[in-house]
This record gives sequence, C-alpha cells and structure tokens, in this order.
Amino acid sequence: MNFILTDSYEQMSETAAEFLTEELNRKPSAVFALPTGSTPIGTYRALARLNKEGKVDFSQGNFFNVDEYVGLSRESEQGYYHFLYENLYRHVNVDLEKTHAPDGTAENPEQAAEQYEQMIDGLGGLDAAFLGIGRNGHIGFNEPADSLHYATYCVTLTQSTIEANARFFRNEGEVPKQALTIGMGTILKAKKIILVADGDDKEEAIHRLWEDTSLRTDFPVSFLRLHPDVTIITTIK
Ligand code: F6R
Repeated sequence: MNFILTDSYEQMSETAAEFLTEELNRKPSAVFALPTGSTPIGTYRALARLNKEGKVDFSQGNFFNVDEYVGLSRESEQGYYHFLYENLYRHVNVDLEKTHAPDGTAENPEQAAEQYEQMIDGLGGLDAAFLGIGRNGHIGFNEPADSLHYATYCVTLTQSTIEANARFFRNEGEVPKQALTIGMGTILKAKKIILVADGDDKEEAIHRLWEDTSLRTDFPVSFLRLHPDVTIITTIK
C-alpha cells in the first residue's frame, strides 16, 4: 500500500485528480468506480477544471457509482447517482449513457445487485476503483461484519454510518437503512485502487490501517492490503 501524505484538502484533491486523469488518458474507455461523500468533492472539482482545460477527456469513459441507497431513485436529491451528476457529470464531457448506479428503486434489490455486477463484468471489470473510507473502516458500503461479500450486494447500514450520513438528510430517521454496494471482490479485482481520506473523524481508521497489518472483516479497508496497486492519498499524519 502506497501512502501519499498531502498538506491540505486541496492538495489531496489535486493529487487524486491527477491519478484519475492519468488513468483516463492512458485508457480513454476505462471503467471507474466513483464514490460520493464529502471527501471526493474537491477531486471532482479538480477533474472538472482539468476537463475544461482540455487535459482530460471523459467522453469514452465508463463510470459506476460505488453504491446507492435502497429506495432512492436516480433523480432523488439525496441519492448517490444525483450526487455524482451534480458534482461531476454535469461539469464534464461525460457520455451520460456510460454513467451507472445500482437501481435503488428495484423491487428486487438482490437482482439489481446481480445486474450491476454483470454490467461491470461485461465491460471487463474495473480499471480503477476510486474510494473514500468510512470512520468505521467501510469502503463503498462494505460495512464491518462477520463476513464480507464478494460481489455487489444489498447491505444493511450500521448505526455509525447512518449517523455519519445523517448530515445529508433532514434527520437521522430519513437515512435509508439499506444500500446496494459493489462488493469487496469487485473492488479487489480493480486494476488500480485510489483512496482519499481527510478529517479528524478518519484519523483512527487511517492510523489503524497504517499500523495494523491484520486482515479483519470488522475493518473492511484492511483487505486492501491484498491488492498490489493501492494508493492512499490523505491529509492525516
Ligand atoms: C460513498 C462511499 C462511502 C464514503 C465514506 C466516506 O459513496 O462509498 O464509503 O466514501 O462513507 O464518506 P465521506 O467522504 O463523506 O466522509
């Protein structure tokens, strides 16, 4: 695991944007998994600027949300597809036909998960997984548990995640209890993994990742140790 320590949120975001740009320039039709949340917003802003400056072209790339809440549609303001549309897609020359999220409104979420996994597989799997990290060590919505899931699946969110994400809703009670997330296997099969982490609430998780070399299902991010090409870009010392 390669750690890159940056001095500020802006520098972290620029560095992550450079990694993603490099990947897209190397392979214009690359397949990406993209996270939502507070941490990647600066990266998306930097990517939008680089796109305007003509330094990166999104038109052939394929973009998959890492996760989506069960019950929320593509149009829902708190939904994760909408988040990526607002923060990235509408600012760059992406082909919206090549942007995807798990179907949060599907009657059968398990089936929607399977279809999502097949769609990623059909394009040859992820070239790059861009990730954030939960304060409990989740990546995507692969929550701490007795066992982890290989492929995209329907997860019941932990109380810690519901509390952390309540800020995007009017109150905690409105946060959906379930989500569809790409699985640990989907992530670990990506050719390259880039993770960004910033803020006091991530300190404990990043220190633990740094110091503890064990693989633990109650600390899902620890499984990134199995991957040969992981870069963690962080402001956390
Ligand atoms: C969301 C996702 C999550 C977030 C994590 C950190 O799509 O994949 O794993 O990356 O919860 O969220 P922020 O950046 O808001 O602290």
